Amino acid sequence: MTVTAIVDAVAAPAHTQGLGDQDSIWFKLTALQRGNEHNPMTTLMQLAERYGGVIPVNMGNQRVIFVTEPEHFKRVLVTKVDDYIKYFDGLKPIFGKSMITHDGALWQKIRMPQQPAFHPDMFAEYIPYFLTAIRSKMDLWSGLAKSGESFEMVEQTWTLAADMICKALFDRDMPFNPHVVFKCVKTYTDVMNHKQVRLKKVHSSGEFEITEEDTAKAMETWAGVPPDVFAADPREARERTLLSMIEAAVADPTIPEFDRQQAIDELKQYLWAGTETTALTLAWALYQASKNPDVAERIRREGEQVYGDREPTAADYGALAYTRAVIQETMRLYPPIWGLIRVATKADEIGGKEIKIGDRVVLFAYGTHHSAKYWEDPESFKPERFMGDAAKKRKPYTYIPFGGGKRACIGGAMSQVENTLAISILLRKFRPEYVGVEPPGINATVTLTPKGGLQFRVHELG
Ligand code: HEM
Repeated sequence: MTVTAIVDAVAAPAHTQGLGDQDSIWFKLTALQRGNEHNPMTTLMQLAERYGGVIPVNMGNQRVIFVTEPEHFKRVLVTKVDDYIKYFDGLKPIFGKSMITHDGALWQKIRMPQQPAFHPDMFAEYIPYFLTAIRSKMDLWSGLAKSGESFEMVEQTWTLAADMICKALFDRDMPFNPHVVFKCVKTYTDVMNHKQVRLKKVHSSGEFEITEEDTAKAMETWAGVPPDVFAADPREARERTLLSMIEAAVADPTIPEFDRQQAIDELKQYLWAGTETTALTLAWALYQASKNPDVAERIRREGEQVYGDREPTAADYGALAYTRAVIQETMRLYPPIWGLIRVATKADEIGGKEIKIGDRVVLFAYGTHHSAKYWEDPESFKPERFMGDAAKKRKPYTYIPFGGGKRACIGGAMSQVENTLAISILLRKFRPEYVGVEPPGINATVTLTPKGGLQFRVHELG
């Protein structure tokens, strides 16, 4: 299969499949926002405190079970993993039929040929491309520092994360406008939009901000991104990239399931799962660095000591222990995937509560990450928790930013390299100043996003 053939194969029309459908858990979860508009996570935390670690909630004709205990996470993610399948209703246009949505043998067949791209041995190869993307972001920030204008940080980090993936994993310069694409994706992943479309479907009135037509347009743009990536000129014609592995899988007759549409959808998946989460983590980390100047100073000092004035390498990444802990602590306080959703395919019992076939089970990662049962002073930002003995003593499954078991994030380790290097390098040259609402509100979209974004100004250090 040639690149051209893959591009020609793109057909899938834009659609708003599942968005705002009554049974979609994303639509139902908008009810969460009513409890505490500033941070809907607190509503679930309170429920967990009052009713224990397994909370069945009847939402219309469906049971949603919120679980918050580490041993229950282990049961669903590891011990009984095959009895709990993935849930992606309403998000198909974002992910298509990519591996993240599949289960069982098919999932394995699709993941296997791509796995080598994420082996830690590859990181040294990727780092120069991460650094190129970071440098281009620094040029942009120099301009923003000079003009003094404020900007939204998640949009900035999203474009950086997308650039890093395109350059390192696809051997392409970003062949799309990331700001436009970022907005399109948000249209779909913001749970409140699901609610608006739902209300519009029910009342068919024109008073809602977002329409199905808007989302269809957004998805059309989104669907056009992978073909643009395939069609773009390679930067260096590297032989061993994720993109070349995907192309080889399409050409491999022993895996007919890995067809042309699969290749397109894999790219969609990476451009969402690998950018949104990485970007949110970096943006929240910069927020914490702005609020805690001592943290920012320690990151700068560590960078100075470890790689000084030269470019950091893979070995330097290993030595940036404090900076890496800052990223890990950020993902504890703000897990980008705040809840992992599964559907029970067999009857089970969790924590003494009955699980019925078809129940939606939400592993409430945010709840465990913020629980005083497992973390001392849980609301404080303390990177030291992830260093030395403190890290070794941690109870398993109390920290699951990347999920767990065989379905754990394929790019988790790589994202930590990206974010550790990015924050280290950016802070050596800039002092980002958070100028938004304090504390920032939380929006429980598919990811944990700051309400209205994170508004910043940057200052260039002398
Ligand atoms: C801070 C960064 C990241 C976070 C917090 C994160 C989080 C997660 C989580 C929680 C899952 C499991 C979801 C579940 O079990 O329901 C997951 C899966 C996945 N992630 Fe990430 N992720 C990050 C970065 C990345 C990157 C950089 C990539 C690739 C470039 C990536 C690609 C994927 C893929 C493909 C899967 C599906 C794996 C499978 O189903 O086998 N992620 N991620």
